[in-house]
Amino acid sequence: MKNSIVINADLGKGTINKNIYGHFAEHLGRCIYEGIWVGKDSHIQNTKGIRNDVLEALKNLHVPVLRWPGGCFADEYHWKDGIGPKENRKRMVNTHWGGVVENNHFGTHEFLMLCEMLDCEPYICGNVGSGTVQEMSEWVEYMTFEGESPMANWRRENGKEEPWDLKYFGVGNENWGCGGNMRPEYYADLYRRYQTYVRNYGDNKIYKIAGGANVDDYNWTEVLMKNAGWLMDGLSLHYYTIPGDFWLGKGSALDFQVDEWFITMKKSLHMEELITKHGTIMDKYDPEKRVGMIIDEWGTWFDVEPGTNPGFLYQQNTIRDALVAGVHFNIFHKHSDRVQMTNIAQTVNVLQAMILTEGDKMILTPTYHVFEMFKVHQDAQLLTVDSNINDYEYNGEKLPQVSVSASKNTEGKVHISLCNLDHKNEAGLDLDIRGFIVNETRVTGRILTAGSMNDHNTFEEPEKVKPVDFNQVTVLENKVSVQLPPMSVVVLTIE
Ligand code: AHR
Repeated sequence: MKNSIVINADLGKGTINKNIYGHFAEHLGRCIYEGIWVGKDSHIQNTKGIRNDVLEALKNLHVPVLRWPGGCFADEYHWKDGIGPKENRKRMVNTHWGGVVENNHFGTHEFLMLCEMLDCEPYICGNVGSGTVQEMSEWVEYMTFEGESPMANWRRENGKEEPWDLKYFGVGNENWGCGGNMRPEYYADLYRRYQTYVRNYGDNKIYKIAGGANVDDYNWTEVLMKNAGWLMDGLSLHYYTIPGDFWLGKGSALDFQVDEWFITMKKSLHMEELITKHGTIMDKYDPEKRVGMIIDEWGTWFDVEPGTNPGFLYQQNTIRDALVAGVHFNIFHKHSDRVQMTNIAQTVNVLQAMILTEGDKMILTPTYHVFEMFKVHQDAQLLTVDSNINDYEYNGEKLPQVSVSASKNTEGKVHISLCNLDHKNEAGLDLDIRGFIVNETRVTGRILTAGSMNDHNTFEEPEKVKPVDFNQVTVLENKVSVQLPPMSVVVLTIE
C-alpha cells in the first residue's frame, strides 16, 4: 500500500518559530577559531576578522539566532578576559576541550559584531558553574545599559558607544554536569538568585533561559518548573543522536553499516518522545505554554575523525546526518506550540556541522543543505497533517518509513518537507492537499539524496551531496503523488 498524507492547507496550527533553525557555536576545537574567526591579519579573506566564505554561507541559511560561548565552555568563561585591546587579553586553558590555549581574541564585541553581520539574534550563555552573580549581572549591564555606569562606560572605552540589543540569555549550561554537577533543587535556587540580577535596561527585555534536563531526566524538568517556572521564559533540553554508547564508542561518522543507519534513525525519532514527556511536565505548571522549550543542543555525536584531537569533536557528515536533521525539523515543527528555539550543535567543524574548513578551504555538509532547503518553514504557519505511513523494517524492528511536515508562508505558498528514512526502498506517497487548488505547473521540488549511505562531501569532492531539482511528481485531481528515493530529503513548494 502507498503511503498517504492529507494536508489541510486551510487549517493553520500556529507559527513555526524561526528560532527553531538556530545555531550553536562554542569555543571548542576549530568552531570559533579557524572556523569563524581568523583575525584581521589572516591570509584568509575576512571582514574584521570573520572569514568571508563562512559568513556568506551562513547568511544564505538565514540563521535566526546564535548561541555562544558554550556549552561546557560557558561555565568556565569569564567575559572580562575577552574585551579590550587584544594584546592585553588574558590567555587561559580551555580545560574542557583539548587543553588548548584560549587567547580570548573572540569575545563579546566580536560575537555581537558577528550577529550583526548575520542579522541574527545573539543568545549568550552566562556562567553559573564557576562565575559570580556580580559577574553575570555586570555582563548584562556592559552589553545593554545605555546610561552612565561603570560597565557602560567601560564598553564605550572599548569602542562601542550604543548598547547592543540582547534578547536571549541563558543562566548556565548543563548544570547537572559540566556546569557544576548540581542537584536540580540546588540549581533551581541558584537560577532564582542569578536571574534576579539579569536586568532589563531601558527597552531591552531579556528572555531568560534556565539550564534544563539531559535527555530523559524528567525529574530535572519537574523540579525546575515547580520551583522556578514563573521566573523563566525558556527551559532548555539537550539530546544528541548517538548510535553507539557515549563512553564505550559512539560509532563512526563515515564507516558504518545498515544496522547503525537504522539505529541512528530510531534514536533521532526519540526526540519526539522527549519533547512530549518533558512537555507534559511543563504543561502541568504552565498550561498556557508561556515557557518555551529551548532545545539548545541537538544533533549527531560520533567518534572523532581518526587522527584528530579527541577534544575537538571534529566529525564528517553524510547523507545520514541530513536525514537526522530533516527528521528533527519535522518533529520540532509539530511541537512548535512549545518548542520556541533549537540550536544545532554546532555551526562549523564541531559535531553535526553545517560547514567544514581546512585552511582557506570550506565545504558545505549535507546538513547545511537541509537547513537551506527547510528555511522556507521559518515563521510560516504550521499546517495540520494526517498521515498513513508504511513501516520501515529492519531486523524485526519497525520505524515509520517517511517523516513529514507542512507549512504555509505569508505569500500563501505551501511547503512540504518529506524524509524517506529507508536505506533501501523507495517510498511512494499520495498527498491530498485540502483547501488549496493545486496546479501541476506550480508544483516544484528539491531533493537531497545519495547513492550510498555514507556519501559525503570532501575538500576534493565538495559537491558530491547537494540538492537538485526533484521531478518525481505527478498531479491528478488535486492529489500530488511523489516517489521518494531511499535515503532522501525532499522539499516541495506548491504555489
Ligand atoms: O556540544 C558539545 C558539548 O556537549 C557542550 O559543550 C555541552 O553542553 C554538551 O555536553
